[in-house]
Amino acid sequence: MMTPPSQPTASPTADAVEWERKPANIDANLPDYDAAYKSFDWKDVECFFDWSSTGKVNIVHEAIDRHTKGMKRDKIALYYTDYAGRDEKYTFEDLKIQTSRFAGVLKRAGVKKGDRVGTFLPRTPELYIAILGIHRVGAIPVPLFEAFMEQAVEDRLGNSEAKVCVTSPALKGRIPKPKLPALKTLILVGQIEGLADDEMSYELEMSEALDWVEPEWLTLDDGLIIHYTSGSTGKSKGALHRQYAMVGHYQTAKWALDLREEDIYWCTADPGWVTGTSYGIYGPWTLGVTSVVIGGRFDPDRWFETIQRYKVSMWYSAPTAYRMLMSAGEVIPKKYDLGSLRHICSVGEPLNPEALKWIKKITGHAPHETWWMTETGMQLICNYRSKDFPIGCTGKPFPGTSATVVDDQGKEVLPGTLGHLVVKPGWPAMMKEIWNNKAKYDEYFRIPGWYLSGDTAYKDAQGYIWYQGRADDVIKTAGERVGPFEVESALVAHPAVAEAGVIGKPDAVRGAIIKAFIALRKGYQPSDQLKKEIADFVKTHMAAHAAPREITFVDKVPKTRSGKIMRRVLRAWDQGLPVGDISTMED
Ligand code: WTA
Repeated sequence: MMTPPSQPTASPTADAVEWERKPANIDANLPDYDAAYKSFDWKDVECFFDWSSTGKVNIVHEAIDRHTKGMKRDKIALYYTDYAGRDEKYTFEDLKIQTSRFAGVLKRAGVKKGDRVGTFLPRTPELYIAILGIHRVGAIPVPLFEAFMEQAVEDRLGNSEAKVCVTSPALKGRIPKPKLPALKTLILVGQIEGLADDEMSYELEMSEALDWVEPEWLTLDDGLIIHYTSGSTGKSKGALHRQYAMVGHYQTAKWALDLREEDIYWCTADPGWVTGTSYGIYGPWTLGVTSVVIGGRFDPDRWFETIQRYKVSMWYSAPTAYRMLMSAGEVIPKKYDLGSLRHICSVGEPLNPEALKWIKKITGHAPHETWWMTETGMQLICNYRSKDFPIGCTGKPFPGTSATVVDDQGKEVLPGTLGHLVVKPGWPAMMKEIWNNKAKYDEYFRIPGWYLSGDTAYKDAQGYIWYQGRADDVIKTAGERVGPFEVESALVAHPAVAEAGVIGKPDAVRGAIIKAFIALRKGYQPSDQLKKEIADFVKTHMAAHAAPREITFVDKVPKTRSGKIMRRVLRAWDQGLPVGDISTMED
């Protein structure tokens, strides 16, 4: 276990002083945090779900079907545009029909309760329909981010032993079927001709499918979804969540995102990552709220246009996006009417005060932090709409949860002292297991009585938690979580690379960029051309966001005598700092 340094690296005081206090938003869904923290019980939320009286559980019923029996039948659930020809809207009734049809398609492909089904699609309505259709048959979606290349796809579909994958003609070439014995069928969105024996056409099958398929009834403990995520060692691991997680999604979307009936809500995350499902699907739709999804690449004009066009009132995005908007300048947001906004939240990395203030300046609203992880399934430490918060702080534990800062032994540390950010196990969306890897799961609980997040933080005297960094080598680049080992494995597969060590290098916009130290094989000469070739190699094998943006050639990558890469030394090299104790280094 890495021991965090004993002193916080940043002090809240300077910025907190100049932080303009906001008026108390007593009209917030959570008007009094302190009172709720004392009395709230998760059991009180269960009555909002039909399963609490019927005993029949399925997220698709709670997120879609039940709304179609009442006033929300014809309410828009999903607005979609890609600003390139597709401009669509779907009511809850439409989604009931579409996801029923897709459930029929999956049944024809032989999918049964508990089977894993991959989704490997761009952000389009079909992706949302596919995920919910998978739920309808009681199977477990395994969403793959559309930028993944072959190795990343193979790792995830292989580990989860997915039986079917829903994909497109453009992406299917990255699915190495011969290496995936469990994968029987591909369902192709956007192809109706020239299908191979193991391929089905989404369009053809949907057109012949029935409009109503009753959900497969499950228990609260049955699987909901597997999201793959990265750690500091080994390949990506699959965090499996249970159906009961919906209780957490629902209540955090109500109290932290402050979602209301009349909101137009825009979560900018892709369902390939946990934010895009917990808060792009489950939270808003169990509440029956209208969601906006846009396809295509990031573009500052399009983003502000989206707020104006749909009159977005609640916006959930990430620090890198806020910083990218900020660096595009003030002229763009001034072209659009952003007056519909009433609340903004942020997730994925700490939001720096400059970006927070800039967003507040152009929208009138400061983004509120929400801290959580793939493994936690739901928001756990947040700043709430009704409550003042010092600028730069991560927030306070969500009612019904207990998060704090402890030392290596699990003892709470004094205010202002840096330690491990931990959570008391038992919140509704806590992962059920790491798929096929009990040892990895157990690592999260190695401080008895706590879930160990891997983040370092301190608590101040008022009980606010201040995130300080990771205690391990996990990299957050542009909000995406990347494991150094995965990038190193991809790098050493290049013929020129003998050894590689990868770190996150601090970056003003992206939070961190991926930097690789590479020792070349005999016969290869360092050159800029070779750097580009190696970076492209990672891009085409793993994913563009995982490719190193900076490469330094070295004679040898520093390792311990047992062969572990000393990333601490690489970070010191990168920053031009003393390398510290290297007594464990080989040679
Ligand atoms: C980081 C994303 C600071 C943290 C939902 C955590 C944050 C990791 C915040 C999980 C925040 C997330 N402030 N850091 N508000 N939210 N993080 O699994 O290091 O992609 O451990 O889940 O992101 O990343 P993941």
